[in-house]
Amino acid sequence: MNIAIPRKLLSAILCAFLFAGLPVIALAQPVVIPIETRTNALVLQVSSEGYVYSVYFGKKLADKNEYASVEKAFRLDRTTAGYNYAYTPAGARNLLEPAIAVTHADGNKSLDLKYVNFTTTKLSDDVSLTSVNLKDSVYDFEVTLNYQTYFNEDVTEQWSVIRHHEKSDVVLQKYASANLYLQANSYWLRHYHGEWAQEMRPEEEQLDHGIKTLDTKLGTRADLFQPPVFMVSLNRTSTEDDGEVLYGNLEWSGNYRIDLEEDPTNGLRVIAGINNYQADYLLKPGVEFTTPKFVYTLSHNGKGEASRDLQTWARKYKIVDGDGPRLTLLNNWESTYFNFDEQKLAGILQDTKTLGVDLFLLDDGWFGNKYPRNNDHEGLGDWQPNTAKLPDDIAFLTKQASQDDVKFGIWVEPEMVNPKSELYEKHPDWVVKQPQRPEYYMRNQLVLDLSNPKVQEFVFNVVDGLFTKNSDLAYIKWDCNSIIYNAYSAYERHQGNFYTDYVLGLYKVLDRLRAKYPKTPMMLCSGGGGRVDYGALKYFTEYWPSDNTEPIERIFIQWEYSYFYPALASSNHVTDWGKEPLKFRVDVAMMGKLGFDIVIGKLKPDELTFCQQAVKTYKEFSEPIWHGDQYRLQDPWSNDVASLMYVDSTKSTAIMFSYLVNNRYATGSKLPIRLKGLNPDKNYSVSEVNLFPGAKSTIAGGVFSGTFLMTVGINPDVREGRTSVLVAVKEQ
Ligand code: DGJ
Repeated sequence: MNIAIPRKLLSAILCAFLFAGLPVIALAQPVVIPIETRTNALVLQVSSEGYVYSVYFGKKLADKNEYASVEKAFRLDRTTAGYNYAYTPAGARNLLEPAIAVTHADGNKSLDLKYVNFTTTKLSDDVSLTSVNLKDSVYDFEVTLNYQTYFNEDVTEQWSVIRHHEKSDVVLQKYASANLYLQANSYWLRHYHGEWAQEMRPEEEQLDHGIKTLDTKLGTRADLFQPPVFMVSLNRTSTEDDGEVLYGNLEWSGNYRIDLEEDPTNGLRVIAGINNYQADYLLKPGVEFTTPKFVYTLSHNGKGEASRDLQTWARKYKIVDGDGPRLTLLNNWESTYFNFDEQKLAGILQDTKTLGVDLFLLDDGWFGNKYPRNNDHEGLGDWQPNTAKLPDDIAFLTKQASQDDVKFGIWVEPEMVNPKSELYEKHPDWVVKQPQRPEYYMRNQLVLDLSNPKVQEFVFNVVDGLFTKNSDLAYIKWDCNSIIYNAYSAYERHQGNFYTDYVLGLYKVLDRLRAKYPKTPMMLCSGGGGRVDYGALKYFTEYWPSDNTEPIERIFIQWEYSYFYPALASSNHVTDWGKEPLKFRVDVAMMGKLGFDIVIGKLKPDELTFCQQAVKTYKEFSEPIWHGDQYRLQDPWSNDVASLMYVDSTKSTAIMFSYLVNNRYATGSKLPIRLKGLNPDKNYSVSEVNLFPGAKSTIAGGVFSGTFLMTVGINPDVREGRTSVLVAVKEQ
């Protein structure tokens, strides 16, 4: 233990340690466990009967001793039900939605978890881990609640570790990661739904009594209908810069379930974890089950602050190479689909160089021989280069790339198989399908059973083999296009373990790959944004938000993702979707990680010049976009002009993006838009950048103080004929 603990608390803690292991403890004074970050405190308190309650989550207090008085101030009456258990067990006194439910080895279904002890360990200047141990008073069954705090970022990751020493297996009927308790007058939930090409559509509603569940049962590509992110505003809807708001994200790439239950005392219980749908998990004696992490942040200054905190945390601690650079690229998916050969690809490699981007990304269609991958009906699983398209193997492309002085990356979808493939013929038992029912497909394919270690080995070798055979391979796009129908594993002894073990199997493969290739850029794709969560992003440098690249649509989609994920992770490609001008499409893609998926040879000379210049401008402003703070200025939902900006950490360079999102007559930026995040005392030059060749800027540029820019603002003069405008703000 390496943390300063107030004296009054210490006696209580020591007392608790003395009784460690005993299910019912007698405490001289209540044990109070404050879990603090820069701004907030989550306070747990042990009752005289030994139950651990969550008594407070809000702004922290200067004097830690005062946390002991918080519970009384709230006057929580728990006599009917333990509304605010820190981790609600099912089957004993609890009457509300549980965080954990089990069937013991003897068939009994009751669980009553009591306090044993807690520890707090400082892992670095910024990171601390508080672990609270709980034990059942009758059964040899234990849970450790873990709270890992990131002090400066105001972020907490919470997860549970479950273990038992009963005579035989215990079945976990529900095994949540976290069980939070909020207390406010009202709660406003913003959550998301979607489908292919319709990702991140928000809905905001006031919660009332009862349970609102956000969940998925899709297995893989799990977020297709609903991603595992949400925000809850307290007392009133929060705005960008005002209001109290909690953001949450379950770090899990499979079925999840988040219950938001407003209880009879108006408290909000938030229970987040793996979905227990068809997932009763068999746990052997002596084996630990570690739940995924639930990450959350609480802001008192609106959605903008919460998102900047989460983005900073993600870049620092979660996303691979979050403080590193990103590769601009040219992708061939929409320019060729499956129809290419060596010559065509050699041409695209030259185009990559001409455009000035860093890398060529070869998409789907390069593999399969007995069943060539010339369409999406066959070949998945057979990861040998197609000899008709690539007679000289991938080596031809890496060699060509190095001659053109660009990098080379490749698409894979290693978790999947087409029934028309050699892999399926050889290993039908590796495929997720019901043995006695007809197969049912999404995109003509099935999912490989990653709960099976042999399949994990195969998937690892597919990707590792590409790297070892092609040492110049610089990038992987990892796709996942099918959900799971007919969930059944020929490998699992207990089918209830399958959904969970699938994701754990995937993570084992990704762990091995990352151990060997720690920083190689990898894009997380799932038929668009079917799998965007921090469980997966731990292994990836970026994600593909949606196959929908129509730029107006994309402004809305990227806007909503940006609440939860940093811009450098958002792969934005310029394509031919939609009717907006090329400049508009490029400007929208520049708001994240810039890529192109168009036929370069079809560009007119001034269009090519514009794109080449845009790549240079993007690189010039990559520091604020990739590693800076993002400020949303005007949202696309309630304004004719959507606007946001990025400022670098020294507040010396910023870039503002503005777009006309309502094309009605005479719409445009009528008023100046106030900037945010600048230094009021610095002077900045303001000028329009990324102009199309021949176009002249019409903004009132010049040199202004930070105060002026944040009080009066700049009018980007967005209107018909100037539907997207980029403004550079540079310290003088
Ligand atoms: C779905 C992805 O979202 C696309 O970008 C593309 O890679 C295709 N799969 C290829 O099959």
